[in-house]
Amino acid sequence: MLMRAKSSKAATGADSALRVDTFLTLAASRLCQPAQERTGALRFGIDLGTATIVLTAIDEAGAPVYWNFVRERVVRDGVVVDFQGAVRAVAQLKQMSEAALGQTIDEAATAHPPAVPLSDCRACAYVLQQAGIECRNLMDEVTAANALLRVQNGAVIDVGGGSTGVGVFADGELRTLSDRAGGGHHLDLILAGALRIPVEEAEVHKREQGAGVLAVLRPGIERIAASVQLQCANVCPGMVHLAGGALQISGAETIIENYLGWKVRNYQHAELITPFGIAVN
Ligand SMILES: Nc1ncnc2c1ncn2[C@@H]1O[C@H](COP(=O)(O)OP(=O)(O)OP(=O)(O)O)[C@@H](O)[C@H]1O
Ligand SMILES: [Mg+2]
Repeated sequence: MLMRAKSSKAATGADSALRVDTFLTLAASRLCQPAQERTGALRFGIDLGTATIVLTAIDEAGAPVYWNFVRERVVRDGVVVDFQGAVRAVAQLKQMSEAALGQTIDEAATAHPPAVPLSDCRACAYVLQQAGIECRNLMDEVTAANALLRVQNGAVIDVGGGSTGVGVFADGELRTLSDRAGGGHHLDLILAGALRIPVEEAEVHKREQGAGVLAVLRPGIERIAASVQLQCANVCPGMVHLAGGALQISGAETIIENYLGWKVRNYQHAELITPFGIAVN
């Protein structure tokens, strides 16, 4: 499943696609298991997501060194709804990561979904500060994702638990940036209703056996595609690059591609693109 590009002329080029795939495969293997070989000082990123809060580390050469996560519902659609809960989660991640890496984590970058008010963006930085980490950079999630993907011409889509962020790049510049509610959590609601099970159970079922319930999830996935189409103003942006965890269901990218009629590229471990992109920035 490593090479899933539909065209050898992907917007970032075949070399770049291979670079991203290689990075993500290596990054995935670093869960709780730090690389022994490191070049220079480490750079940290913290992704305060709706579904997961992730801490990542890369070295000076840009290689993935470590990551860890906690599943907490302290952020909703990019807004920190439980400040103290978010601080506790980040402090817990800091502590676990420092023990694993054998060094302190004094500063990190973080990100917010596109199009949230400045006050909500600032809340992300305050969460880090309260957890004992200086916020060295605060950016939007799509810009973070593209720090890793390096798309010159095309769209970067971050479909997380709560929302779908879309950035359209032309000649390496961000031309439009937007975000709409709708992501993995909405798929959980559809599945919970169809199977008559609790939403939490549906989320696990979707992650572990998503391909088996693709027919049930199709309308929800098409709704995400419709959101992408709308956010691209119905104009093909070039290759559409999928980041975020919500479309990691086998077959989802084909549904998106067929709905849009545009070329789509999915990445294995796409849920790591934004968290590691934050550390890069
Ligand atoms: N293997 C998988 N198959 C299907 N869905 C998955 C898989 N892995 C993760 N997900 C889903 O992806 C979503 C989480 O993705 P991600 O970690 O990118 O979101 P987030 O950053 O926490 O949320 P947001 O960016 O919206 O604030 C959840 O809905 C989760 O159920
Ligand atoms: Mg996210």
